Amino acid sequence: MKDNLLRAIEHQTANLVVLGLGYVGLPVACMFAKAGFSVLGLERRQDKVDKINRGECPIDGKEPGLAELMAQVVGEGKFTATSDYQVCQSAQIVLLAVETPIDPSTKKPDYQALTAALTDLGPHLARGTMVIIESTIAPGTMAMLVQPLLEKQSGLRVNEDFYLVHCPERVMPGKLLANIHNCHRVVGGMSPEAAEIASHFYRHIVEANLDPVDCLTAELVKTMENAYRDVQIAFANEMALLCEDMGADVWQIRELVNKSPYRQMHLPGAGVGGHCIPKDPWLLIANASYGFESRMIRTARAINDNMPLHMADLAIETLSEVGIKIGQARVLVLGYSYLENADDTRNSFSAVMVEHLQTQGADVVIHDPWIPQYQGDLLERAAGCDVAVLMVKHQAYYHLDLGLLRNVMRTPILIDGRHVFDPAQVQAAGLIYRGLGQGTKPVGVELGPLARTAEILQEQTG
Ligand SMILES: NC(=O)c1ccc[n+]([C@@H]2O[C@H](COP(=O)([O-])OP(=O)(O)OC[C@H]3O[C@@H](n4cnc5c(N)ncnc54)[C@H](O)[C@@H]3O)[C@@H](O)[C@H]2O)c1
Repeated sequence: MKDNLLRAIEHQTANLVVLGLGYVGLPVACMFAKAGFSVLGLERRQDKVDKINRGECPIDGKEPGLAELMAQVVGEGKFTATSDYQVCQSAQIVLLAVETPIDPSTKKPDYQALTAALTDLGPHLARGTMVIIESTIAPGTMAMLVQPLLEKQSGLRVNEDFYLVHCPERVMPGKLLANIHNCHRVVGGMSPEAAEIASHFYRHIVEANLDPVDCLTAELVKTMENAYRDVQIAFANEMALLCEDMGADVWQIRELVNKSPYRQMHLPGAGVGGHCIPKDPWLLIANASYGFESRMIRTARAINDNMPLHMADLAIETLSEVGIKIGQARVLVLGYSYLENADDTRNSFSAVMVEHLQTQGADVVIHDPWIPQYQGDLLERAAGCDVAVLMVKHQAYYHLDLGLLRNVMRTPILIDGRHVFDPAQVQAAGLIYRGLGQGTKPVGVELGPLARTAEILQEQTG
């Protein structure tokens, strides 16, 4: 079984099925097709299947090289999409990259897509096949869900009849192809043999290190690296709130902090969204035993989830300083995707802020250059608005003509949640500026207990 598969991998004659053609599955499929494999993409959405087979890329964000590569491999007949699971019968490698969200209320994994894909794949699984899960999953899922479900549905035994691997993906939208090529990967096998064979397979498209490990280790590495990022961002966000409270500038302070050796403070921001960072910390702790209590992960999630509400508060406060109630205001939201120059709106933090403002009676107008329903002329959207809130640092916003913005707005207020603008330039253009992490209080005023100490000192010294 091993020699046949290794030979087919070495000579790129192994038939590959990539199941789930989203941000992860599509670029991976294209790269293996470019490396010489015959690739079939299995996707439940017929609109995506049709689009891909016409050579049109279904991802609209700024994704260097992807549309061209996809058109090329589709045109050469090396990559075809289908919605028919029968194609798995002749596959020697099946790679799954379906979505793995969490339930918004319980924060537990929602494995509907994964379970459906495994259930449908099982009956078509041939002996000697290698099944790879690239989706991000809670530690323990390979052993507790994937293996038993596949064995039940296929009647085959793992390690005896088929190989099972977890090779989590590390891509970030905007750099999908480059990340697949350049990022180190952990290759978790249900047996050392499975990890070894999968490493040979990935070597065709990955230039960086491939670290063979067991499945649990791979699951922990992936979810822990994203939880680490969430915690780091939460720290930066809390420091931004502290600086606002104390009348300081978190952006300057962060730069100076990072001049100290071994400090790498992350960037604060208007929110944390997307399909990975807001849910992977929950996946990390999903299967921990009842004796384990996570405090840091939960706190970091709470801090980051609060950021869009804080952005709303900044807008409401600034409006009230000029005598406008939020219920009478028109708010322009700049950016609705979760990441700059991307079209992905999953877990959009702007959506959270919009809903919060609307429940308070605000009239909200949204602009995003990457999302069809919010595209259009920014200045037309800004006309008659009382405050513009920048949530996402899309490239297009860097070139915003502040003078023209000022002229079209009813009340010229700009709130910057990403430190895109120079406050002095905004003010010079005639706009009122508020920035996340930038305090407006004069230093030394209302500084909690210290202010009282200063008063006592003054009383004592006359
Ligand atoms: N998006 C990222 O940047 C990123 C990065 C690293 C890891 N991941 C992980 O990779 C996985 C996939 O993420 P994504 O962003 O590509 O998701 P996605 O939603 O963009 O893509 C998933 C695709 O799978 C298809 N699908 C779902 N169930 C199916 C089924 N039963 N049969 C056939 N097709 C099915 C969906 O229609 C969709 O096109 C997730 O576990 C995610 O956490 C994502």
